[in-house]
Amino acid sequence: MQGLIIVMVFSLISMMTGLQPLYASEPVHVSDSDVDVGKAFYAKKRCGMCHMIEGKGGKMGPDLSHIASKRDREWLIAFMKNPKKMVPGAKMMPVKGSDADLSALTTYLLSQQ
Ligand code: HEC
Repeated sequence: MQGLIIVMVFSLISMMTGLQPLYASEPVHVSDSDVDVGKAFYAKKRCGMCHMIEGKGGKMGPDLSHIASKRDREWLIAFMKNPKKMVPGAKMMPVKGSDADLSALTTYLLSQQ
């Protein structure tokens, strides 16, 4: 519940300020902060409206809690850029964002155990 409130507050703040992340032009690398950046991006893009992580979220899309055991990094990035190319007939919209955003988002998703 507390997590949900933090996510909602974050979404609200980024909506009000039109926050443009500074990391967008930085080189792609993997670190702990990528997990945080990815988590924030996940909240900002409202992935949780359709996806469940650790019991929180919607049910329209598959549960992403254990996505690491099903998909790898390349597949996830390719899917988010163009879902229909990876899953014929996919209903999910392509995820708009820089390569750094998508990379951090993927790092976050794969960090779920
Ligand atoms: C409007 C609902 C909706 C939203 C919002 C949404 N998705 Fe999805 N997603 C789906 C559906 C439905 C699928 C199943 C494949 C399909 O039909 O597109 C899916 C599939 C996926 C998959 C593949 C899962 C698997 O097991 O193969 C990933 C990864 C994923 N979504 C990540 C995301 C991320 C990250 C976001 C936010 C940037 C997001 N989704 C936002 C509906 C959504």
